[in-house]
Amino acid sequence: MKRPILLIGKGGQIGSELAGLLPRLGEVVALGRAELDLSNPEEIRETIRRARPRLIVNAAAYTAVDQAEKEPSLAQAINADAPEIMAEEAKKFSASLVHYSTDYVFDGTKNAPYLEDDPPNPLSVYGRTKLAGEQAIRSSGVSHLIFRTAWVYAAQGRNFLRTVLKLATQRDELRIVRDQYGAPTRNVEIAAATIAALARTTEPADGGDGFADLGGTYHITAAGVTTWYDFAEAILQEASATQASSSWLASALGGLPLRARRVTPITSAEYPTPARRPAYSVLSNSKLTKAFGIEIADWQAQLHCVFSLNS
Ligand SMILES: NC(=O)c1ccc[n+]([C@@H]2O[C@H](COP(=O)([O-])OP(=O)(O)OC[C@H]3O[C@@H](n4cnc5c(N)ncnc54)[C@H](OP(=O)(O)O)[C@@H]3O)[C@@H](O)[C@H]2O)c1
Repeated sequence: MKRPILLIGKGGQIGSELAGLLPRLGEVVALGRAELDLSNPEEIRETIRRARPRLIVNAAAYTAVDQAEKEPSLAQAINADAPEIMAEEAKKFSASLVHYSTDYVFDGTKNAPYLEDDPPNPLSVYGRTKLAGEQAIRSSGVSHLIFRTAWVYAAQGRNFLRTVLKLATQRDELRIVRDQYGAPTRNVEIAAATIAALARTTEPADGGDGFADLGGTYHITAAGVTTWYDFAEAILQEASATQASSSWLASALGGLPLRARRVTPITSAEYPTPARRPAYSVLSNSKLTKAFGIEIADWQAQLHCVFSLNS
């Protein structure tokens, strides 16, 4: 009988989408924090040994970028040590590993989209621990795909989109930074690209040779570039243009009317945060497109989908 796919982090933005899509590729054992606490190394080993997966997909992470500055050991345990254990165990079972990483492994001093091989230089605890996770997976020798993504949001949960909509019911004016450049990427596109890439590979446990020359690190982000300020403006424009009958929007607004009509640009210096963020963290998808033929929609189209599909 074919061994299952083990999805770790089923409750997260990307994990919840994967939980819906991965069953297309076979039987899935999907775990959230309640079933597997990644701060417990023995629990990780035991869970993998029990499941005997052919593929592990790790969508869990310590993603609280500012809080990580205060909890570096916990961030290290979840973002670096846990993936290292997953990689070791996967290798023992001839399983493959899919893992996610971040644009925050870069320092943002480049002024053209980052390529996978550009030298990383993280500015924060979160970025450093995510980079350590990547490196541990690579040096384990496991068959793997690492997908770096950026500025992730979803129709549900806690993220920039939902925060802007909520604040827009409470204030007349929003003040948002305009000196950080990136590509806001919807969870749905990341999960769909993951499935499309996996559909083009054979895993070692299937008698294949792992991800073979397709294995490695890839960027999956929305096409195009924007700033948090311009993203917030686009969110308010979409919200204003969306029918009042949208139950998703009504719920995102907490049943309150949209108050803010104006977004004022500010600098990062005017909005100090515990973690430093790169000023420019646009990632190039060209390696993904070349290897797998996958094109990712631009950030405006992705944002429009949230409003139009949830109306
Ligand atoms: N969010 C972004 O803007 C962003 C940007 C670039 C890259 N990424 C990367 O993309 C991947 C997925 O991110 P996401 O936005 O989907 O994250 P998310 O929504 O914050 O979900 C992370 C998941 O990890 C789980 N988790 C955290 N600590 C855990 C622990 N000790 N044991 C078990 N589970 C634990 C969380 O569980 P709880 O819900 O119980 O806390 C949550 O379900 C991550 O690798 C992240 O680094 C994210």
